[in-house]
Amino acid sequence: MSTLVYRFEEIAPRPLRPEVFELDGISRASVEAHYKLYEGYVAKRNEILGKLVDADLAAANQTFSELRALKVDLTFAIGGIKNHELYFGHLGGAGGSPEGAFGDLVSRHFGSADAWRADLKATGMAGRGWAWTAYDWDEGRLFNYVGDAQNTFPVWNATPLVALDVYEHAYFLDYQTDRASYIEAFFANLDWSVVNDWAQQYQITP
Ligand SMILES: [Fe+2]
Repeated sequence: MSTLVYRFEEIAPRPLRPEVFELDGISRASVEAHYKLYEGYVAKRNEILGKLVDADLAAANQTFSELRALKVDLTFAIGGIKNHELYFGHLGGAGGSPEGAFGDLVSRHFGSADAWRADLKATGMAGRGWAWTAYDWDEGRLFNYVGDAQNTFPVWNATPLVALDVYEHAYFLDYQTDRASYIEAFFANLDWSVVNDWAQQYQITP
């Protein structure tokens, strides 16, 4: 008998800051429904790891295709957790141009706040699920990366500092198909103090 995961601990959803329920242009109903999806990713992560603990590589009924499905689903669930903890984490602010260390990084690597914002918005319009501003440690600079799903296409050795959810579930309730207006609302609610705390935590400096 060989198990795939020696042991694991269940995790619980992180509660949202109260201000995330009071956003401009993104309704409480939308945030509450969206948070339920995030809770689902947490439950799925715990469930899949439980299955992996019980999985027996030597057992006849444990095929590699089943294992593949579990492993892929695990990346989707954990991606969904990480993405949404970033997304909800940095909402609740007053938006405007990036400030502090992140503002300096944006100026250095995009030329201006407007250029960064235009590129991230275009990336969000082009993607199916996500657009991230991430600091790439190998390149030593920010990029706006695109993602189609929770598990596509993160790049190794990069730290996301802004996570723009462009799945329809993020905006349909408030904007129907008008993704562009939702992205403007997203920018208007970013909390730069949170983003700068993350930059400091990871020692990302301009
Ligand atoms: Fe989402």
